[in-house]
Amino acid sequence: METLQGMKRSHHCGAMHKADVGTEVILCGWVSRRRDHGGLIFVDMRDRSGFVQIVFDEAAMNDGTFHKAESLRNEFCIAVRGKVRARSEETVNKNIDTGEIEVVCEELRVLNKAKTPPFYIQDGVEVDETIRMKYRYLDLRRPEMQANIVLRHRVTKIMRDFFDREGFLEIETPMLCKSTPEGARDFLVPSRLNAGEFYALPQSPQIFKQILQVAGFEKYFQIVRCFRDEDLRADRQPEFTQLDIEMSFMDQDAILSLIENMICELFKKAIGAEVPAVFERMTWDTAMDKYGSDKPDLRFDMPLMDISEYVKDSSFKVFNSVIENGGMVKCIKVDGYADIPRRRLDDLVKFVQIYGAKGLAWIQYTEEGIKSPFKKFYSDETFQQIADATGAKQGDLLLVVADKRLVVDTTLGQLRLEMGKERGLIDPDALRFLWVVDFPMYEWSDEEKRWKAMHHPFTAPRDADIELLKSDPGRVKANAYDMVLNGVEIGGGSLRIYNADLQEKVFESLGLTPEQAREKFGFMMDAFEYGTPPHGGIAFGLDRLVMLMAKRDSIRDVIAFPKNQSARDVMSAAPSPVEEKQLRELSIRTAVRKKESKE
Ligand code: AMO
Ligand code: AMP
Repeated sequence: METLQGMKRSHHCGAMHKADVGTEVILCGWVSRRRDHGGLIFVDMRDRSGFVQIVFDEAAMNDGTFHKAESLRNEFCIAVRGKVRARSEETVNKNIDTGEIEVVCEELRVLNKAKTPPFYIQDGVEVDETIRMKYRYLDLRRPEMQANIVLRHRVTKIMRDFFDREGFLEIETPMLCKSTPEGARDFLVPSRLNAGEFYALPQSPQIFKQILQVAGFEKYFQIVRCFRDEDLRADRQPEFTQLDIEMSFMDQDAILSLIENMICELFKKAIGAEVPAVFERMTWDTAMDKYGSDKPDLRFDMPLMDISEYVKDSSFKVFNSVIENGGMVKCIKVDGYADIPRRRLDDLVKFVQIYGAKGLAWIQYTEEGIKSPFKKFYSDETFQQIADATGAKQGDLLLVVADKRLVVDTTLGQLRLEMGKERGLIDPDALRFLWVVDFPMYEWSDEEKRWKAMHHPFTAPRDADIELLKSDPGRVKANAYDMVLNGVEIGGGSLRIYNADLQEKVFESLGLTPEQAREKFGFMMDAFEYGTPPHGGIAFGLDRLVMLMAKRDSIRDVIAFPKNQSARDVMSAAPSPVEEKQLRELSIRTAVRKKESKE
């Protein structure tokens, strides 16, 4: 192997232009591809900036160097000294930025060899994700992955600059915290010095950022790792990053407007996208009623429509009994899909069951007339009324669900997304931002038979609803807001409670006795007795934001070292068993180990 001695990199592979023709350059990087034309070898050389073609001409160089070039294989790490020359007209490569030039090699150093990689280091190759994760360092060499990580860097840099300019301070908060209830499951860390006691890794810096407001910092932000032991999905990781923000003395409108400014600047600077200066706002009630989701994808319309009044008086028991029991019948209209195959309808019946619906019905307005499983229960007039009310024309399809409101809304909301995709209604280049506001303060947990905070227990109820806290918690709305982009919740926040009495009332409504509240949140309640300013904030899922900017389907593609679906780091093989001695020091015995040692 050779060294770099005397070879100081002068240029980056992907950053050379026609203007550099004639210049002597020294490049460092990797062999991406080698083509041997007998006496003439071409190598596509890659570094972080891109590619350039290197030419090894047997006639023009000494034997030793040409011989070395023959030994090059993909992913060898090399340094090249040579001269930039223009390519002839017919050999220009329009696919790469440096396609008009090439570098004629005069000296080659092989800095390191490489084993044959388990997959091609190229964009767009189909590779099993487990292999990609095991060899993450090779996966990350691929230009599209490099671009994602570079974008992520740009994004955090722009955020930091924005908040610095606006007078915010980036302040770190602890990673070893007190475990507090509400929210997802905690990751726990045993304390060696305090046997039998545990820290929790933070699910978010929520309490600390509020206490920083009590401490008088007024404007705080942090780009911070958060940990939640949840079931994973494409847009969920057990450790993920938030852009976390909190500020004092600002009302909801001022907070939302500051955040809109940040997002506008971010999208413009990071990806050159123009975003409206003021985002659309929709109440949670409207979002659920009209789109069946608290994070509606507004890149296409297809609203949910209530047709209960047209179908209620008939002998069709399915609809009747639902309506009599306080439920409803709603539908979505899929334009031009009256000819949906029967098999597909059968699939959709199974699809709706995932979301708790007991069944799915439909009306096909076809050339041959109405087709519907409930045709015989209604007159032609009723079908016409439904068509008038929904705007259905010949050729259109209505998909109908009857159930309790929440089931109808969620099911049709999911069906709407499915149809939007299936009918190609989603413009992949559109960016549709939305604020969802006026969230309910509580949601009922059937499992625990109690009201739970929809956001977190520090969220302030709307002033007008405070009197309902005891009598009718289900109707209390919170000063809480989510930012949604293309149907993904990218951020959420709220104004906070800053009055100790109100906080106590809210804890009480969540079923916490004053003693329990004290035990869990006593330090926060103590802090709040010393002149707490009115404050509020928001946190963004940084991984989700970058995923959407990079137009990827999974946040794993914008995280350098993500976990797989079973929360494993495949590359380093974590989690893993540890030494008995380590456990003893922590005063821990695991049930799993015990079982193994018995066998
Ligand atoms: P919330 O729980 O809504 O709010 O989280 C804020 C944002 O973080 C992202 N997010 C995730 N991203 C990847 N993987 C996960 N497992 C995951 N969980 C959440 C989402 C979400 O919108 N402390 C409050 C914020 C506040 O009130 O200021 C909080 O954490 O994009
Ligand atoms: P059933 O009497 O249960 O066989 O239902 C008759 C038809 O009613 C089915 O073929 C479905 O198309 C429709 N249906 C049943 N349950 C529902 C429901 N909850 N919502 C909408 N349609 C339903």
